[in-house]
Amino acid sequence: MRAAITATSRYLPDHIMTNFELEKMVDTSDEWIKTRTGITERRVVHKGQTTADMSTSIAKELLQRSNTDPEEVDVIIIATVTPDMATPATAALVQDRIGAIKAWGFDLSGACTGFIYALDTATRMIESGKYKKAMVIGVDTMSSVLDYSDRNTCVLFGDGGGGVMLERAAHKEHGVLDSILRIDGSGGDYLKIPGGGSLHPASHDTVDKRLHYITQDGRVVFKFAVKGMADVSAQILENNDIASSAVDLYIPHQANKRIIDGAAERCGFNEDQVFINIDRYGNTTAGTIPICIDEAVEFGRLKDGNLLLLAAFGAGFTWGSMLIRWGK
Ligand code: ACO
Repeated sequence: MRAAITATSRYLPDHIMTNFELEKMVDTSDEWIKTRTGITERRVVHKGQTTADMSTSIAKELLQRSNTDPEEVDVIIIATVTPDMATPATAALVQDRIGAIKAWGFDLSGACTGFIYALDTATRMIESGKYKKAMVIGVDTMSSVLDYSDRNTCVLFGDGGGGVMLERAAHKEHGVLDSILRIDGSGGDYLKIPGGGSLHPASHDTVDKRLHYITQDGRVVFKFAVKGMADVSAQILENNDIASSAVDLYIPHQANKRIIDGAAERCGFNEDQVFINIDRYGNTTAGTIPICIDEAVEFGRLKDGNLLLLAAFGAGFTWGSMLIRWGK
């Protein structure tokens, strides 16, 4: 029995932050950001709006689009590194707000690979036969961990997310075909949010040292990201004896247009095969892939029977790929 995506949705906050706005906050330029990253603008939550708020909008739309009553939902997995609180889980807040009274769930911390980790986890749950409907959401409020005085990071990220409903495939050819997931903690120092956990519990000192913000060595992350995404993308195709030309749509994590181009080129994909929306949203961490999937459906770029390849790379380091035959 395969697991198939039966509905998709996304949520992007209304407020658009352009590169020109960032020019007023840090020493950067629209020209630099566009040429080095491909980003023109990103979305930012309004004051008080949270990860659970965005997730709830996504979840409600998933219920509607999959014709699901809230009490039919078995599992809710929310991939995020910016939960509303350390505990309770964002999944608990969402469960309560949508009235999924028979569900269980949890948050999953896989950074930019979080959605792929969550989708694979839910896939195995559905395949086990124990669960029928799993809601998988990838969402981040990156503005809550961004230092808007650090030009190395603040220009890259945005807020938003998306999700899918995963169920037993009705058609035996459709659904998740394969996955490759990886983690390598030796890369942990290159991209992290050091403060607020048990290592550096919140204190005046950690706030003074700005430890609650994301920090990175962009050049190192860049190199590992291109290689990591390209390696798992090529490997999953090889494992399944599929030529890159047979892939209908490649959805890579949207961190930097140059990372996407580098990975796509190494795998032999042409421009028409690759989905890109980083220009409009920046890097929404766990949000990028489900946002892309929902847009691809809306824009008619994913049709029943299409071969879809997902790939991501992020903090940890974490990375992975998934191969899906689109359709219910
Ligand atoms: N505006 C203007 N100049 C900047 C900015 C900015 N926003 N940011 C950095 N610079 C400067 C640097 O200080 C450096 O100046 P220097 O030469 O005087 O030291 C110069 O630009 C070039 O810096 P590089 O780091 O070589 O620039 P690069 O072309 O590598 O681009 C970037 C930097 C965009 C961060 C790139 O390395 C990158 O995208 N890395 C991946 C990071 C990432 O995506 N992290 C997100 C999470 S992980 C993931 O999702 C894959």
